[in-house]
Amino acid sequence: MQDLKIPEHLAIIMDGNGRWAKIQGKPRIAGHSKGAEVVRDIVKYTSRLGVGYLTLYTFSMENWLRPKDEVGFLMELLEEYLKGEISELNNNNIRLTVSGRTQLLPEKTQAVVNEAVENLSKNTGMVLNLALSYGGRSEIVDAAKQMAKLALQGEIELDKIERDEFGQFMYHPEMPDIDLLIRTSGEIRISNFMLWRCAYSELFFTDVLWPDFGTANIDEAFEEYNRRVRRFGMTDEQVAEDNE
Ligand code: IPE
Ligand code: IPE
Ligand code: MG
Repeated sequence: MQDLKIPEHLAIIMDGNGRWAKIQGKPRIAGHSKGAEVVRDIVKYTSRLGVGYLTLYTFSMENWLRPKDEVGFLMELLEEYLKGEISELNNNNIRLTVSGRTQLLPEKTQAVVNEAVENLSKNTGMVLNLALSYGGRSEIVDAAKQMAKLALQGEIELDKIERDEFGQFMYHPEMPDIDLLIRTSGEIRISNFMLWRCAYSELFFTDVLWPDFGTANIDEAFEEYNRRVRRFGMTDEQVAEDNE
């Protein structure tokens, strides 16, 4: 792993828990439990490697459509993870943020999330950003509404709004765009994840199911990331000049 360029903002669509459980002949929730264990390892590992921001797709807006029992279990699992992991996260100097319509979460879950965010707020290492009750389209709608409100109040001039100004209305505008997006479980789609911030992300898809994902898979993704040439619309010559 020496001399590898580490993505400043890494994001993971952690998929395949249900299928993993099915293969084991277990209920879907067993896959979610194993998935949470993997989160513990991957968070620490990526923080040690020097990732600046790690966004984990934890629960999508569309996941609210799942059976009530499964949703309830996922909420409890999240609470358990945050409570059980707080000192480890602290030891690793990790800060916590959340992106999404968290006002839709059960009150108890909101309280646990808020407490964890507060407890870790002074840390200065990797930012662990949980995309929770998150939808890429909802984020853009929320941004547009907020902007429209300010425009109606005469506080901003619409003519002055360009890409960068609009980006300031996204959740956590201080966060950089996603450099590398990993999706597990063989699905090759975005599933409404960070539509704004993935505009120029490198995409890495693996067949490994999330509960089987490990640090070696991170190494593999980072090695592949280092082989990619990011052009951002420019020519190879311009990119070479930029890198000089
Ligand atoms: C990802 O695993 C976890 C969440 C979406 C919360 P899934 O539960 O989607 O697992 P599969 O895709 O059914 O295998
Ligand atoms: C995306 O996975 C959401 C999370 C990983 C939290 P899904 O399993 O919900 O995505 P689809 O439905 O297969 O596209
Ligand atoms: Mg899935």
